[in-house]
Amino acid sequence: MSPSAADFEAVAADIEQLAATEEDSDAIVRGAVEAIHDRLDTYSWVGIYFVEDEELVLGPWQGPSATDHVRIPIGQGVCGAAAANGATEIVDDVNADPRYLACFTSTQSEIVVPIFADGQVTGEIDIDGSDLAAFDETDARFLEEIAALLAPLRPRDGQPSAA
Ligand code: SME
Repeated sequence: MSPSAADFEAVAADIEQLAATEEDSDAIVRGAVEAIHDRLDTYSWVGIYFVEDEELVLGPWQGPSATDHVRIPIGQGVCGAAAANGATEIVDDVNADPRYLACFTSTQSEIVVPIFADGQVTGEIDIDGSDLAAFDETDARFLEEIAALLAPLRPRDGQPSAA
């Protein structure tokens, strides 16, 4: 079942509060990933990628296992498509999408939401779901709100932080 509006509002409010009170950018991004993963049941794997040159580089993530896709060229995979197009991607069935770069056998669906700063894609939020069609426009609006909160933040020294 999709998260309720109340779930989304509570998680967004917590991340907003964290962004307003925590000074360490890395801690805010890590905290956001934890909140999204731990409190929204259908969000099986949650990661943030940052754009570095022509690649997406994995920053903080939460989920049952690590992904091999720690660097994704912009334009490749669902993640690379979202970055190249500057648009949210919702994939109801990853096995039916030829762009999909497989990470986990449990993944059935995926949503990727770009993070923008000054009109440029600087990163993205990537979520894997274990059910088909786990994500819809409500998830997209929620994650776009979170992406806007994270937009001013960059990893320290240009290096993404580990989870
Ligand atoms: N599935 C993504 C790759 C990243 S993993 O889901 C963590 C893609 O197709 O770009």
